Amino acid sequence: MKKVIFSDEEFEENLQHLNRLMEEAEILPYPNAKELIFSILKYFDSVHREPLSRMMEMLKEKDPSLRKDIEGDFSVKTMLGLYDLVEVKEPEPTVEKDKVLGFVSMEEVTVLNPEKNKEWLELGNVKDLVEKKLYAKNFERVNFLISKVDKKVYAVENQCVDSILPIDSGKLEEHFLICPWHGCRYDLKTGIAENHPQKKLEVYPVEIEEDGLLKVEISY
Ligand code: FES
Repeated sequence: MKKVIFSDEEFEENLQHLNRLMEEAEILPYPNAKELIFSILKYFDSVHREPLSRMMEMLKEKDPSLRKDIEGDFSVKTMLGLYDLVEVKEPEPTVEKDKVLGFVSMEEVTVLNPEKNKEWLELGNVKDLVEKKLYAKNFERVNFLISKVDKKVYAVENQCVDSILPIDSGKLEEHFLICPWHGCRYDLKTGIAENHPQKKLEVYPVEIEEDGLLKVEISY
């Protein structure tokens, strides 16, 4: 498809710029502003996702070859990929994975990634947690989620893997948490996404004392 407003390169640059802005929003020191930004993004997502999904379904039923042509366009395919409406192949790594992390050699990683601080947080009594409800918590820069399912308490990070989107508006199905954005199904016991096993949420250790005091160990 020919360029209308941006070339493919310009479109990709815009996406990268957007990613950078999202990363900046993620570290904003104003929790209310951050919450508002992510809430706006969430609703933008849902008002786009529904019509796009319907449009692609209609094309699949009524004009599969047009759907194929549309999916061949770089910018359309990229956007549909963001909504999990087409399969986007990850580019093949050009370097040996175990030797290099990003642009930094493994020897340098410990310097850039110092030992994390750990702290046990006391979060009240376990009997006050409602079964199958998600509780979003914040400590330093750690956003995490607490839930109680069948009397067991789980704590995982409140951010979908490879994304900055929070998952506290997701749905619980037994000990699985379904991401509200594109449906990753995370096992709260392991943090691993059942439908994308390469994705893993950080899982935080949980302890419940005899009197019911709930403690979660956070690394930051
Ligand atoms: S943000 Fe895509 S599955 Fe969670």
